[in-house]
Amino acid sequence: MRILGIESSCDETAASVVEDGETVLSSVVASQMSTHGKYGGVVPELASREHLRAIVPVVREALEQAGTKLEDLSAIAATVGPGLVGSLLVGLTYAKSLSFARGLPLIAVNHIEGHIHAVILESKRAGTPVEFPAAALVVSGGHTHLFEVREGFQYRLLGKTRDDAAGEAFDKVAKLLGFGYPGGPVIDRLAPHGDQSAVRFTFAKMKGNTLDFSFSGLKTAVLRWVEAHDMEAEIEARRALRRENPTPLPEQWLPATPQRTLDLLASFQHAVIVELLTRAGAAAESIQARSLIVSGGVACNSGLRAAAQSARLPYPVYFPSPGLSTDNAAMIAAAAFPKLVRKEFASLDTAAQANLTLA
Ligand code: KG4
Ligand code: ZN
Repeated sequence: MRILGIESSCDETAASVVEDGETVLSSVVASQMSTHGKYGGVVPELASREHLRAIVPVVREALEQAGTKLEDLSAIAATVGPGLVGSLLVGLTYAKSLSFARGLPLIAVNHIEGHIHAVILESKRAGTPVEFPAAALVVSGGHTHLFEVREGFQYRLLGKTRDDAAGEAFDKVAKLLGFGYPGGPVIDRLAPHGDQSAVRFTFAKMKGNTLDFSFSGLKTAVLRWVEAHDMEAEIEARRALRRENPTPLPEQWLPATPQRTLDLLASFQHAVIVELLTRAGAAAESIQARSLIVSGGVACNSGLRAAAQSARLPYPVYFPSPGLSTDNAAMIAAAAFPKLVRKEFASLDTAAQANLTLA
């Protein structure tokens, strides 16, 4: 059974054909990075305009690459939320139109559930399926959530960020230092060249749910450190460089980045990793998890992957391959498969939901 998945919740227009919830026949992603890069973040109006431009060719290419015609499909799946409403609308409306025109069932998928299924999909494919109950850490530009995932894809929220998402913290710190958007890949590339114990960042104790996260204090601590270290000229030099080249490759920053900045970035990234893994570990323990899933854009982070592997946890830790960590449509088609089996279809008047929750 082949499902066409469509994802347009933020700044990536993506389409994919996935067979039986585990074989990715195609996964096409049109990134808007170059459009938003110069503004230091995603501009919602520009995002929906770019989705409009990209949606038809991206879906066509996904079908072509998969050698699949619309009549070969069993269903069309689209992200229904959470995300930017103007962006969600483009993918969802196109999916509805295809569904109506071709008489195919429509499946509405929660973007966060999609991120979790990116891992489940690959684990099945690799012959080492995720075992349940699993703890899932979904960590991206918009979310930092911990869930319990039970057999049959039942979700329970265990904790979430009370302010910024972890990816947002990466993006804000990078922007503050003049590196531009998105910040995660740049910091990931530079951090290994710094001393992670150079700057000591401490986290406030959480009152209430100890599985909740908070990143805004860390962001403020970085800001204070920058203010105290006379970095204006260095930051301005980076901004000038970005006016000439708005989307430099992460490694292009390395030769011109002073050691103290590399140390700051290494210490910041280390603090984020410790915060994420400590609470994910505690969450897994609290539900006696048989696996830990880490997914979302921040799951690309090489420091996070290395730390999770070397932590020698008593259960396997699953990360998606980098292409399935950031936003993509294969994860949407994969998450739709169990819903197709259960005939859990959406009606054509399903509305995009910017603040949709998973549990
Ligand atoms: O999942 P995603 O593509 O979109 C959302 O649903 O938000 O995640 C994007 C986020 C951005 O904040 C970006 O800076 C972060 O993921 N990111 C990373 C890395 N690659 C992307 N953060 C840390 N290290 C990375 N290598
Ligand atoms: Zn995402």
